[in-house]
Amino acid sequence: MRSALKIAVVKEIKPDEYRIALTPAGARELVQRGHDVVVERGAGGGSSFEDAAYERAGARIVSVDEAWETAELLLKVKEPIEPEYRRLREGLVLFTYLHIAADEPLTRALVESGITAVAYETVETDDRRLPLLAPMSEIAGRLAAQAGANYLEKPHGGRGLLLGGVAGVAPGRVVIVGGGMVGYNSAIIALGLGAQVTILERSIDRMRHLEEIMSGRVSLLMSSSLQIEESLKEADLVIGAVLIPGALAPKLITHEMIRAMKQGSVFCDVAIDQGGCAETSHATTHSDPVYDVDGVTHYCVANMPGAVPITSTKALTNATLPYVEAIADNGLHDAVAADRALGRGVNVVEGRITYEAVAEAHDLDYTPLEGVLPLSPV
Ligand SMILES: NC(=O)c1ccc[n+]([C@@H]2O[C@H](COP(=O)([O-])OP(=O)(O)OC[C@H]3O[C@@H](n4cnc5c(N)ncnc54)[C@H](O)[C@@H]3O)[C@@H](O)[C@H]2O)c1
Repeated sequence: MRSALKIAVVKEIKPDEYRIALTPAGARELVQRGHDVVVERGAGGGSSFEDAAYERAGARIVSVDEAWETAELLLKVKEPIEPEYRRLREGLVLFTYLHIAADEPLTRALVESGITAVAYETVETDDRRLPLLAPMSEIAGRLAAQAGANYLEKPHGGRGLLLGGVAGVAPGRVVIVGGGMVGYNSAIIALGLGAQVTILERSIDRMRHLEEIMSGRVSLLMSSSLQIEESLKEADLVIGAVLIPGALAPKLITHEMIRAMKQGSVFCDVAIDQGGCAETSHATTHSDPVYDVDGVTHYCVANMPGAVPITSTKALTNATLPYVEAIADNGLHDAVAADRALGRGVNVVEGRITYEAVAEAHDLDYTPLEGVLPLSPV
């Protein structure tokens, strides 16, 4: 084990973001391993974690400047936003959700600063699981069905339909495009509400798995442009839940398809953090979550789990802590050498883009990770 690492946790300044990247329980684990943990004053307040709880865990409470300036490893939840760009610097390892394939200004800021940035969402195991996206996807998927049910109500601009129906009245129809973590969790809640659920998926293996675990309670259909067009016409609630890892979401839903949907129906584009899967999608916030396109309510909140920060902060730390411990104990080079999943999370090394889909998205130079970090244990 190497010497103690300086680990900082800062307050999220993105509007409506109340999560924090480390719980007091996580801070204690790191302190017990001999690391120096500092937390920006008030950073945990939005998730109901007071400064005193971090102090009891052995962390120090510091100013925002001290946190950014002294850290070797900086933990965040969301990507740095414009006022934070000036704080990015060489010698710092940033570990956070980045989603830079959809964010050219941030990509350029990271490259110009010389920082090293590891993205939670592209940490990917050999069997293609996304362990740091999964907990937020579980939460966003569950919230999407709740939000959809809410915006189908008449006072919220919807058709005035109860998703579950009642005895003698048909339930609403929910169409979910993408049957991964978000899609599965949306389906579970929609089914729980009593809706009739269809999932459109592209992967046959994934559909077989869903068939097995959901034992005939949902309709599973192969996703194609024609099938999406037909399914959307029948839907009361559509949930966009596709993902191509590290890349912009494909625009599977055209403006024409939205125009053909029922008046007062709802489209919830969870994939909005990757640019959205409909031509009509643009990102919204929790304070102004919806807008109307041709009579279809669009809910496109880019940080949905931010609405339930207590649940999200705990779920996120449960998933990230093993990786944080590996980086802190061994340094990024050795941690990456020992774990290819973590290696896939590395998007930028000292200002060079090491994630191909990101470089392609912005037409910038790509440097294979092997060229800058060793990939076998030293
Ligand atoms: N808005 C938010 O707050 C929020 C929170 C969490 C996740 N997300 C986003 O939700 C999206 C889904 O995440 P996930 O964790 O479920 O990913 P996932 O990889 O578990 O699932 C994505 C699924 O989409 C399927 N897919 C790919 N192309 C398709 C196509 N053309 N038609 C149908 N299905 C297709 C894949 O086969 C896969 O099963 C991502 O864009 C993710 O970034 C958003």
